Amino acid sequence: MKLLIVLALVVSTVNSANILVFSHTPAISHQFVFRAISRELSLRGHRVTFVTSNPMADPSLTNLTEIDISISYEIFKNIDASVFNREANSIFKVALLGLKFTEDLFMLQMSAQCMKDLLKQPQNSYDLLVVEVGIPAYHALQHKFKAPLVAVSSYSIPTYLHATLGNPVHPLIYTGMFSDFSDSIRSIWRNFDNLFIYLLETFFINFFGYPKFDEIARTYFGDDMPYIQDLMRETSLTISNVNPIISDRRPLAPNVIEVWNLHLNRTEDPPTSDIRRIVDEAKNGFVYFSLGTNVRFEQVGAEFKENVLKALGQLPFTVLCKWQSEDHPGKPKNVVLRKWFPQQFVMSHPNLKVFVTQGGLQSSEEAIINGVPLVIIPFLGDQPKNARLLTEQGMAETISPSALTADILKNTILKVENDKSYRSRAQELRSIFLDQPQSGLDKVIWLFEYVIRHKGAKHLKSPSADISLYEYFLVDVFAVIFAALFLWYKLAKFLLKLIIGFLMKKKRVVNSTKKKN
Ligand SMILES: *[C@@H]1O[C@H](CO)[C@@H](O)[C@H](O)[C@H]1NC(C)=O
Ligand SMILES: *[C@@H]1O[C@H](CO)[C@@H](O)[C@H](O)[C@H]1NC(C)=O
Repeated sequence: MKLLIVLALVVSTVNSANILVFSHTPAISHQFVFRAISRELSLRGHRVTFVTSNPMADPSLTNLTEIDISISYEIFKNIDASVFNREANSIFKVALLGLKFTEDLFMLQMSAQCMKDLLKQPQNSYDLLVVEVGIPAYHALQHKFKAPLVAVSSYSIPTYLHATLGNPVHPLIYTGMFSDFSDSIRSIWRNFDNLFIYLLETFFINFFGYPKFDEIARTYFGDDMPYIQDLMRETSLTISNVNPIISDRRPLAPNVIEVWNLHLNRTEDPPTSDIRRIVDEAKNGFVYFSLGTNVRFEQVGAEFKENVLKALGQLPFTVLCKWQSEDHPGKPKNVVLRKWFPQQFVMSHPNLKVFVTQGGLQSSEEAIINGVPLVIIPFLGDQPKNARLLTEQGMAETISPSALTADILKNTILKVENDKSYRSRAQELRSIFLDQPQSGLDKVIWLFEYVIRHKGAKHLKSPSADISLYEYFLVDVFAVIFAALFLWYKLAKFLLKLIIGFLMKKKRVVNSTKKKN
């Protein structure tokens, strides 16, 4: 009994581990997830080094050291996120731009002195590496530090990574981010389009992406490292931040795990008193309009902005509208423009009728958690896909940015507000989303500690990750079967010829002897 208790204690605790949390994407929506993780790990007594473009600078977190790579935001000087859109560029160009963007970001970050210092640390400095999904080159950190690596995505994980980890991929069942989600081409052409995207992505990552990331990783993490894709297969765990409500619902290898509700622990500035007053006094209810942090108003075009303001002005509600400024010529009376709103506060307010959003994952999650129906205007990244899934689930309507007119926007908002089915569906999804045995954060931390306790937890890796394409399709087996069938056919043909030949000869012999007689 005593032994059991001792064993239980040994098994159940990882006292204080050295953990590196590395989030490379300069976007606050990504950082929220890694902030929540880093803060919680440090509060539980781990010594955490957090590389981030948005340091929390919270002096009460004494076990947390932050490494500031806010220099990463300079990447947006040369490029903005709107180019990663099929309406703006061909899919091949999007892939090329994406590769260039991640490569530039990697080089920019590696050139920072703080990163150089980080890499000078001795090999066994960390017990666990928590690394954001998105730049494969960073998977080489596990080679550098000889520690298990957990890859975490602040949203879903891309098709190429599913394929590398041995999860099933299929161009029609699990469509990628760049599929055409408009309803107009629900046909065999869409299937062709999806197949095309899938083949292109597979070709691109294997012949351009991985070789490039391998090359740049070698420069910084040592030329003796294995090929980058093989290192990715050695990842202990890959964590995808999606609930089945907004995921592919794909079978996953045991080392790929979905969690959700991570960032909601984020803290934000409290609402200003005027915002509080405006929403409290909105007795008819209010509408909240925000296109998030990655869609920038300078880029959406003047006509789009005028249409939006015109539609919002015609609504019989107060509207809180996240805008690039606090005023605008001809701003309608019922519309309140601000550069920033305390989103958690606004979303949980009982007077909120409809949320108009770009459909980013975290805004979608916040809408689900608060049971708020949506009008989605998706622009880029995972937004079109989230929009389609939430519209299919019945809690949202989608408007394509290129199709948006003032009338369409106004009527769609009114429709979603009027028809109570959107709200009740949102409430149903809320109860599904929140129904889990432990919070998302607890689950993630347990998983990290599990990986540390079991020295990388390599037993979770699926054999499907290592299988080659020819083995997967049983090419060798079928080759032997076909060879055998072919040989058999040749042999049978030969024997048949022989027998027929023999019989014919015999007949001729018989005939000729008959003649003689
Ligand atoms: C820091 O970690 C120690 C254990 O290593 C723990 O006892 C302490 O509570 C932590 N402090 C904070 C502020 O998280
Ligand atoms: C956020 O995290 C803190 C610290 O772990 C916890 O006390 C609090 O309950 C969490 N809040 C939510 C809304 O989960």
